[in-house]
Amino acid sequence: MTTQSSVSALDRWGFSTWLESARGSGEFITLPELDGINDAVVSIDGKSLVNFSGIGILGWQHDPRVREVFAETARDYGLVVGGSRIIQGVSRPHLELEALVAEITGKERALTFATGMLANLGFVNAMSTRFSFNNSHGVDNTDTVLVLDRECHWSMWKAVERFKFGRNLIMFDHNDTAGLRRELEQLAGRKIVVGFEAVYSADGSMAPVAEILDLCEEFGAISFVDDANGFMVYGNGGHRFAAEYAALRRATFLMVSFGKGVGLSGGALAGPADALDAFRFLSGTTVFTTNIQPPTVGAIVHVLRRMRQDPSIMENYLDRVDRLRERLLRIGCTINPTPTYVTSILVGANDTAVRVRQEFIDRGYLVPMFGYPAVPKDRAVIRLLVNNRISDEQLDGFVDTLAELREKYGF
Ligand SMILES: Cc1ncc(COP(=O)(O)O)c(C=O)c1O
Repeated sequence: MTTQSSVSALDRWGFSTWLESARGSGEFITLPELDGINDAVVSIDGKSLVNFSGIGILGWQHDPRVREVFAETARDYGLVVGGSRIIQGVSRPHLELEALVAEITGKERALTFATGMLANLGFVNAMSTRFSFNNSHGVDNTDTVLVLDRECHWSMWKAVERFKFGRNLIMFDHNDTAGLRRELEQLAGRKIVVGFEAVYSADGSMAPVAEILDLCEEFGAISFVDDANGFMVYGNGGHRFAAEYAALRRATFLMVSFGKGVGLSGGALAGPADALDAFRFLSGTTVFTTNIQPPTVGAIVHVLRRMRQDPSIMENYLDRVDRLRERLLRIGCTINPTPTYVTSILVGANDTAVRVRQEFIDRGYLVPMFGYPAVPKDRAVIRLLVNNRISDEQLDGFVDTLAELREKYGF
C-alpha cells in the first residue's frame, strides 16, 4: 500500500516534478507500445506507422524458416535453460553458437550473454576484478586501466562507473589516434585495455581500426572492440570497410550483439581461450543472470549460417542504404560523412526534434529521434537503421516528408 508519508518521501527524488515539466515541454515523448509484431509497418494504438525505429535491419524474425527453427529449438531444448550458466549450464545450441561466433570472428573462444550490454558489463568486470576460489591462487586485476573512446556506448560507461577518472579510467577523443597515443605514452608499464567500437551507433562513424590496434600493439595494451553494430554487416566478404574488418581480426577481444545485423537478441564475447574460460566465472554476468533463451539461440545459429552462405543478402541491403544516403544529401540533409549503414540525420535543437518527431507521426512515420544522452545536447539526430522490409514507395514517402519538414524547421 502506498502511504501518504511514502509518497512525500519519494518527492525528494523529484520524479513527479521532472515529469510534469518534461510533459509540458513535449520532451517526455509517448513511448511506442506496439499493438502487434515489429515490422516495416507497426500499429500503435490502432494507428499504422511506417517503422523507421527498429534495429533488426534484415527482418529475419519474419523469415518462415527462422520461425520454424525457433519453434523446433523450443521443442527440443525448452524455452529457457532454467538458471545461470554457472548454476544450470547452457544448452547445446549455445555451444554451437559460441563455436560459430569464434569461427566468424577468428578467435579461439566465444561466450554468449543474454544481451550485448551484459557482455560489455561482464567483460569489464572480468578484466578488473580480484577473485580466488581458495585464497591462494587467483587473479587480481584491480590495477587494470581502461582507456575508452569518448563515444563508447552507454553500457561501457555504465560498466566503468566504479573506476576513477585519471587513475584507472582514461578517455580519448572520438576516433582520435593522436590523442590515444598521448594517453598511452603516459601509461607505460601499466595493465591497459583500450576499448572502442568499430561502427558507432549514434554518429555512424567507423573507427580507424588498424591505427588503434597498431597503437595497442606498440604500447603492449589489450584491445577490446565493441562490434555490436557491425557484426555480420561488414567483414563477411563484402567490399565495404573490408580493410577495417580485416584489421579487426587482430583485436584481442570482440563483443558482438545479435540485435542488429542478425536482428534477434543476445550478445557474445570472443577472444583467447584461457581468458574466455576464466570469464565464465569472472564476468559476473554469466553467474548472476540468465543467458539467451534456447529458441533464440537456435534461430541465431540458423541466421548466421544463411548470412555466411549468401553475403549478397547483406550487400543488397547496403546498396539500398547507399542509395538512400545519396537522396538525403540531394535534399540537403546533413548526414554522417562515413557511409556506414547507420544513417544519422542532424536535426539539432531538442525542441525542434520533439516537433519533427511528432509531425512524422502525424504523417504516418515512426522515426527514432536520438537526443541527449545518446548524443550531445541540442545535437539531436534522426538515427536510421533502415529495415530492409520497408518498400521503395514507403522510403519515397519518408524522404518527401523529410524534405518538407526540413524546409519547415530549417535543419
Ligand atoms: C555499441 C553498442 N554496444 C552495446 C550495445 C548493447 O547491445 P544489446 O542491445 O545486445 O544489449 C549496443 C546496442 O545498441 C550498441 O550499439
